[in-house]
Amino acid sequence: MDFNLSEEHVAVQEAARDFAVNHLFPGVIERDDEQKFDKVLLRQMGELGFLGMMVSPEYGGGGMDTLSYVIAMEEISKVDASAGVIMSVNNSLVCWGLQMFGSPEQKAKYLTKLATGEMIGAFCLSEPEAGSDATSQHTTAVDMDDYYLLNGTKNWITSGATSDICLVMAQTDPEKGHKGINVLIVEKGLEGFVVGKKENKMGIRASDTTSLLFTDVKVPKENRIGEDGFGFKFAMSTLNGGRIGIAAQALGIAAGAFELSLQYSKQRKTFGKPISEHQAIQFKLSEMATRLEAARLLVYKAARLKDEGKDYIQASAMAKLYASETAMWLTTEAVQIHGGYGYVKEYHVERLMRDAKITQIYEGTSEIQKLIIARELLK
Ligand code: CAA
Ligand code: FAD
Repeated sequence: MDFNLSEEHVAVQEAARDFAVNHLFPGVIERDDEQKFDKVLLRQMGELGFLGMMVSPEYGGGGMDTLSYVIAMEEISKVDASAGVIMSVNNSLVCWGLQMFGSPEQKAKYLTKLATGEMIGAFCLSEPEAGSDATSQHTTAVDMDDYYLLNGTKNWITSGATSDICLVMAQTDPEKGHKGINVLIVEKGLEGFVVGKKENKMGIRASDTTSLLFTDVKVPKENRIGEDGFGFKFAMSTLNGGRIGIAAQALGIAAGAFELSLQYSKQRKTFGKPISEHQAIQFKLSEMATRLEAARLLVYKAARLKDEGKDYIQASAMAKLYASETAMWLTTEAVQIHGGYGYVKEYHVERLMRDAKITQIYEGTSEIQKLIIARELLK
């Protein structure tokens, strides 16, 4: 498999790096403190095409491949992992899901705006009682002939407060189990749709995470994506690609922490020489660089397989598992290399360490990735 980047890929990397360094870096500590993502930045991300990278140009997107997307995700997440998750959900769960499975009318109405950031999307699968065990949906969408009557609670929704539309998975026919689940496009502002509590999180604090409450919300029939009962397949299919995005976010967090550690180790002196000249620190740097490269190769491989139209379920689970475990391990080592300075906000690595943790949890925990990999191996 060819992992060389084309001129187009390098151009995407440079554009993303430029945006991250010049626009996301200033204020990243304050946004984390205040738990706020700047709407101006979000609009700029949309204008630069970072929110609909893989959407076809027909619908206002960049028409790029998955490799371009993961390269951009890495650069953005190196600096601001909160921006990374907003970008990942909008691109790989919401836009990709609509592009692949939406009707022409749904694409014309929603995808064009989502691709440019005029609208932000949320993906709503998890519930208070259904996280890893995603088939046990308690939210109901009762078929009322002209519309679906939606009732229930979604939990942990990324961009729950800032999004304009939500893709909501809900049970229509409990007797059919996961084959009775539907996915509905639910617009903000519908009567009975309330944004719940905003979570006060350990990491990715500038990205809002909220619960969403639905009480007798009438959702038009034309807002169902795909055939009746397609909702769970929709969720699983989009998550296969979403996990490549989160793997790229984890890769970015790890790469950011590595670059900071390398620089710092050359500047900080102890016992009359830079700490980079102590073998204990050199060994840490060597292991960091090796694991980072292995994570990058797994992420690129999953992206390439998806672009080539090959099966990428196992590859995306492996990429997410390895990249997120690497991000957690590597950021912890980065704090260690920085000593006491690593424990305070100004040096950025403490934030990256807090941000890394979530990549082992969302879009399927590390345990769930192992379960998926094992099922693929044993098929
Ligand atoms: N791709 C396509 N289809 C899949 C699939 C996959 N990766 N995994 C399962 N399916 C299909 C199965 O083929 C099956 O369909 P059929 O009956 O037609 O064959 C159906 O889905 C049910 O599958 P299982 O019987 O395997 O279901 P299960 O109950 O054993 O669990 C699971 C499957 C993989 C554990 C699944 O529940 C899962 O992925 N859990 C994790 C949930 C998750 O990742 N949530 C993320 C929420 S979004 C998010 O987190 C966003 C964010 O943070 C930013
Ligand atoms: P549980 O499923 O209760 O798991 C608890 C523990 O048990 C975990 O360690 C898990 O790995 C383990 N476990 C569970 N089942 C098994 C098993 N079969 N074998 C081995 N171990 C197992 N969801 C959305 O739908 N949309 C979003 O936008 C979204 N954004 C999120 C943002 C944040 C910041 C957070 C924290 C979560 C977000 N989530 C979102 C939810 C996320 O996907 C779930 O938290 C995750 O899937 C785990 O579910 P849970 O929290 O219910 O944990």
